[in-house]
Amino acid sequence: MQQHEDRPIVILTGAGISKESGLETFRDPDGIWARVSIEEVATPEAFVRDPERVHGFYNARRRGLMSEGVVPNAAHLALARLEREWPGEVVLVTQNIDDLHERAGSRNLIHMHGEILKARCEACGGVTDWKDDLEVATRCPACGEAGAMRVHVVWFGEMPFEMARITQALAAAALFVSIGTSGSVYPAAGFVQEARMMGRAHTVELNLEPSDGVSLFHEARHGPASELVPAFVERILASAW
Ligand code: APR
Repeated sequence: MQQHEDRPIVILTGAGISKESGLETFRDPDGIWARVSIEEVATPEAFVRDPERVHGFYNARRRGLMSEGVVPNAAHLALARLEREWPGEVVLVTQNIDDLHERAGSRNLIHMHGEILKARCEACGGVTDWKDDLEVATRCPACGEAGAMRVHVVWFGEMPFEMARITQALAAAALFVSIGTSGSVYPAAGFVQEARMMGRAHTVELNLEPSDGVSLFHEARHGPASELVPAFVERILASAW
């Protein structure tokens, strides 16, 4: 049996892992994009055209995330346990902009689509923790400029963060697990192919239902993340993989 130290694990998560914590997904029938158009709230052009509308969209989601009933669920907690107990490296790449992985205890975490609890100044580039509403008049705490603050998330048409680090992790991975994502948005939807082509990864999908890319995985389990992920982590830690 190979030593665990040279069996790094890469996990990718999407909105589905936070659904049972009370946060909405995007493409489920009751998802965000069934109610709001991407072009109106999640592109740079939308922000130029109507910044208050974009601020309003993210202000409502930030308040929802900070409401007291929204807490990490068993799936978030199981991934934090895997990072603590697995002797090799565990890299958690999330498409989610919530902070539920951090609150569950995950540390080796990459927010490739940014974080809703951070704001960025387009004048000086400064990024700062942000839990209040953003408005056009909001001043940058670093440079004092008004009208240049935006939520620190990646909009459609913008480059995701830390892609070089993610590619490096995928190339080294012995196990790639995709959790709670529809596999419909690139580059994240292509990570399973990268892990297989560049490396030696065994690839697993854990999702409520088959994703767009389910046929690309060696293994797939379908059901709620709060049940699938703790069971999968138990299996990994018992080295039954
Ligand atoms: N447990 C596991 N999976 C679930 C659960 C659950 N309780 N509930 C829903 N799912 C699954 C759905 O079946 C779906 O396949 O989670 C997936 C969510 O898919 P999307 O709504 O498309 O969310 P995501 O894949 O994270 O979207 C990727 O698209 O809109 C952009 O930037 C946004 O990061 C987002 C990206």
